Amino acid sequence: MKRVVVVAALGLALTAGVAVAGTPQVYLDKCRNCHGMPGKWWAKNYGPDLAKTKFTLEQFIRQVRYGSKWEGKPPLAFKYKTRVMPPQVGVEEDEIAAIYVWAKEQAE
Ligand code: HEC
Repeated sequence: MKRVVVVAALGLALTAGVAVAGTPQVYLDKCRNCHGMPGKWWAKNYGPDLAKTKFTLEQFIRQVRYGSKWEGKPPLAFKYKTRVMPPQVGVEEDEIAAIYVWAKEQAE
């Protein structure tokens, strides 16, 4: 019995570690509140799941810099048409690129 508890606790610790490891801190600070964690399709979020984005890196950077409205933006999925993302300040371009790569890696 004791052994089962230890194994279960270890399993939990490992899962928690995997969920957090590699997540860019800036994502946790600036994006998670609206977007939730990428690839978690069961989570209800205000913004789209970034694991599923079809944006190029350049478009992704524009979205973060300018928020919801910028020239050349692809059409929005219906449920996001009335939702707004404000421009995100204080996020460096290399940080955005890191979020982009990491978020796409979370796709299932
Ligand atoms: C206040 C809530 C909010 C915050 C904070 C926020 N977003 Fe958004 N984001 C949204 C909403 C709502 C949309 C959908 C509407 C749109 O495209 O403007 C969106 C759309 C996007 C898209 C377009 C995805 C696609 O494929 O259509 C990207 C990329 C994105 N956000 C990245 C980010 C990143 C990276 C951060 C953190 C630096 C961030 N967002 C912070 C609300 C937010």
